[in-house]
Amino acid sequence: MNLLVTNIHHLVNVRTESKLLFGKELAELPVIENAFLRIQDGLIKEWGEMSSVGTHGSLAEEMIDAKGASVLPTWCDSHTHLVFAASREDEFVDKIKGLSYAEIAAKGGGILNSAKKLQKASEDELFDQAWKRLTELMHLGTGAIEIKSGYGLTVDAELKMLRVIKRLKERSSIPVKATFLGAHTYPLEFKEYHQGYIDQIIHDMLPRIAGEKLADYIDVFCEEGFFSPEETETICRAGMQYGLKAKIHANQLNLSGGTETGVKLGALSVDHLETMDTSAIEALAGSKTIGTLLPTAAFFLRMPFQPARTLLDKGCAIALASDYNPGSSPSGNMNLVVSMSCTGMKLLPEEAINAATLNGAYAMELGEELGSITPGKKANLIFTKPLPSIAYLPYAFGTNLIEKVMINGDFI
Ligand code: NIG
Ligand code: FE
Repeated sequence: MNLLVTNIHHLVNVRTESKLLFGKELAELPVIENAFLRIQDGLIKEWGEMSSVGTHGSLAEEMIDAKGASVLPTWCDSHTHLVFAASREDEFVDKIKGLSYAEIAAKGGGILNSAKKLQKASEDELFDQAWKRLTELMHLGTGAIEIKSGYGLTVDAELKMLRVIKRLKERSSIPVKATFLGAHTYPLEFKEYHQGYIDQIIHDMLPRIAGEKLADYIDVFCEEGFFSPEETETICRAGMQYGLKAKIHANQLNLSGGTETGVKLGALSVDHLETMDTSAIEALAGSKTIGTLLPTAAFFLRMPFQPARTLLDKGCAIALASDYNPGSSPSGNMNLVVSMSCTGMKLLPEEAINAATLNGAYAMELGEELGSITPGKKANLIFTKPLPSIAYLPYAFGTNLIEKVMINGDFI
């Protein structure tokens, strides 16, 4: 099918070639005003200014008048925990009353609370809930997503979670990447015997996960009171032996050493980065590892926002993601993520959009097929309501400015 979209007010992130963006490069967001876009068989074919649509129009079998909508690549959400069995608003209330994230975890809340519930839920129940969440997110403009395990914490429950993610991958029209996060926390019975659980991850979980091809990446929650940098390295290296690249939770609550460990391992990304010092920033800046910032998690936990300006000044590649999970970011709305990155970390709208589209795609190794309006990439597109400018998108936070979402050339 050959489709021509006309009268696009702003055609956003138009690039003839694409690459991961570092530092200052993120401030450049190529936009064509008053544009047309041609799509063939679900892929982006060509674009131009409306004044030059002439002969291109005659090639089209179908025409869509965008009527002044702006068109962006869909959001690429490279860090979520979308599969979970139950919400945790009771902990939200505990936090309002003054308990910290670590105190809630120490009370048996937090990740262990989610694990207890997930262990009891059936694969079908988990799939149905996750499918509903995924569908909602697609209508909010998400066109590719990474999903982690990590609420199982036993061999059976981790495999169950990853099988749910595999089903989402098979059923969904958007790319889904799966990350094995068995090392999310220590189950209670291994609290004093870390090596026992690490052995389970390495010898019982990983071979079966690799055997069933259930994961693309390996993740560890590298944090004080969770996994040390040494434990993180051991677990990631074991995963890497099966071809799983590292994408790790680093420097969220403390200076955990996670960023330095991730860089040393050549991780695809180190994620969170609320708590950074010069050593962590310098390590990231000297590497190709992507720093994935999760502003809604910082917001929800009332933590200082990630030092995005410093990371960009030092030349880091940064991406934005939602961290959608029941404990620290019970929202997967990437529009809010983009907006909060501007208000909370002072990203410019151009930087935020690049970080949530193109760099997000690279943080899932999807940079060659998504994240920009580039010939040959998938036509996964957001059609907005009429916008006076691109900056209006993060500015008017909380308002749904999305009119329609297109996946592989079809409106959903
Ligand atoms: O990315 N920090 C670790 N994991 C999640 C939260 C998990 C939870 O509280 O359930 C996160 O924020
Ligand atoms: Fe997370």
